[in-house]
Amino acid sequence: MEKFIVKGEVQLNGNVKINGAKNATLPLMAATLLCSGVSVLHGVPNLRDIVMMQDIMTMLGAKITREGDTLSIDTTGVSKAEIPEHLMREMRASVFLMGPLLGRFRKVRLSHPGGCDIGPRPVDLHIKALERIGAIVNDKFGYIQAEALELSGGEIYLDFPSVGATENAMMAASVADGTTIIRNAAREPEIWDLECFLNKMGAKIIGAGSDAVRVTGVKRLSPAEHTVIPDRIEAGTFILAGAITGGDVVVENVIPEHLSAVTDKLREVGVKIINGDNYIRVRAGSFRGVDIKTLPYPGFPTDLQAPLLAMLTLARGTSIITETIFENRFKHVDELARMGAKIKVEGRTAIIRGVSKLSGAPVVVHDLRAGAAMVLAALAAEGTSEIENVFHIDRGYEALEVRIQGLGGNIVRCGSN
Ligand code: UD1
Repeated sequence: MEKFIVKGEVQLNGNVKINGAKNATLPLMAATLLCSGVSVLHGVPNLRDIVMMQDIMTMLGAKITREGDTLSIDTTGVSKAEIPEHLMREMRASVFLMGPLLGRFRKVRLSHPGGCDIGPRPVDLHIKALERIGAIVNDKFGYIQAEALELSGGEIYLDFPSVGATENAMMAASVADGTTIIRNAAREPEIWDLECFLNKMGAKIIGAGSDAVRVTGVKRLSPAEHTVIPDRIEAGTFILAGAITGGDVVVENVIPEHLSAVTDKLREVGVKIINGDNYIRVRAGSFRGVDIKTLPYPGFPTDLQAPLLAMLTLARGTSIITETIFENRFKHVDELARMGAKIKVEGRTAIIRGVSKLSGAPVVVHDLRAGAAMVLAALAAEGTSEIENVFHIDRGYEALEVRIQGLGGNIVRCGSN
C-alpha cells in the first residue's frame, strides 16, 4: 500500500494548473454510449475513477484510447447493457451508465450500487426519473433492471436536486419521444457541461444551471468532440492548501464563478482572494472561525467540507460545519484529532475549536476528500505525518504530491502500489 510522507510547516508558493473535472468527465464518458461512433474528450484527468470507468465501458464493448489528456471513445462495438456486480462495487459512479444504456438499447441491468464510505447512496431518484419517461424498473435481489419499449417525454420532479439523477434523466430523455422537463434539477456546473456535450451530439436541451432542465427528444445522436470544464473541487483544494500553509498560490485554469461560495467563505475566514479571468490567487492572513453548511450548488460543496474543516482546525475561535448532503461524512475528524485538532461531532454537525498548531502523526485516509483534508493538515502541521491509503486520493487528484512539490511542499509517495 502506498503512503504519503509529509514534512509540514512549509509555505506553498507559486502557480498550479487545474485539470479537467472528474465529476464532469464521468457522465460525459457515459453519454458517448448514446450513439455509435468515435467521440473525443479533451482535458480528461488521469485518475483512478476515470480508468475504472474506461474499464467498465471497455467491458461493454467500447474501444478507448488516451493520448495525453485526450480520450477517444469508440462506442461502435458496444453491444452489452449489463454491468456486473464486482464493477459496480468498485465504482458507484457507474450508475451514470443507466441513462445512456437505456436510451440506446432500451434496456439495462446493473447491480445495486449500495452504500459507501460517506453513507447510504440510494438510487431511488434515478429510478423515479427513468420511470417518468417510460422505463419499467425492477429493483430486486440486488439488481436494477430497466426496460422501455418506448421512451416518451414526461415531467420529472426530483425530491432532492441529485446531480447523478439529473444527469441520468438528461441522457435518457435526450433520445425519448417528446419533451421532458426535469424540475428541482441539480444546478452544478457539471450539469451544464453535460448539456453542452449532449447538444454537440445533436440533443436539444436548455436550462442546465437552472432548476428546470427541458429536454426535447431527438431520433438519433452522433459522436462529438468536447473539452471538459476545469475541476472546481481540485481548484478549491489547492486554494485551501495555499491558505492553510500561509502561502501565496495562483490556481490557474479555473472558472472563478464556479467557486464563489468557497472564495466568499474564505474571505470571511480572513484569507485574501484575488479573482482573475481564469485564475484565483490566494494569500493567507490569520484565520477566524466561521459557521458553514454544505448545500447543493451554488451553495458550499460537500466535496470541500473535509479540506475546509482541516483549515478551520487552525482558526481563531470556534467554527461549526453542518453537512447536509451526506450522512456520514466526518470520518476525517478522528484522524485530525490524532494531529491535535479539537473537534466534536454531533449528528451532522462538527464543532471545531481552533488550536494554534497541529502536530504530524500517522493517519489513515477513509475516502477521497477526507484524504485531501489529511494532506492539507499534514502540510501545515509541525513535524512529519504518514498518510496511509493514498489510493483513495488517486481516485480524484492526479499526481497530487508532484503538484504540491511544484509549489515547494515537502511530500513524497512511498510503498508499493
Ligand atoms: C455527485 C458527485 C459527488 C458529490 C455529490 C454532491 C459525481 C461523480 N459525484 O455525486 O462528488 O459529492 O454529487 O454534490 O458527480 N440521493 C438520494 N437518492 C438518489 C440519489 C441521491 O437520496 O437517487 C441523495 C444522496 O444520498 C445524497 C444526495 O442525494 O444524500 C446528493 O446525492 P447526488 O447529488 O445524487 O450525488 P452524486 O450524483 O452521487
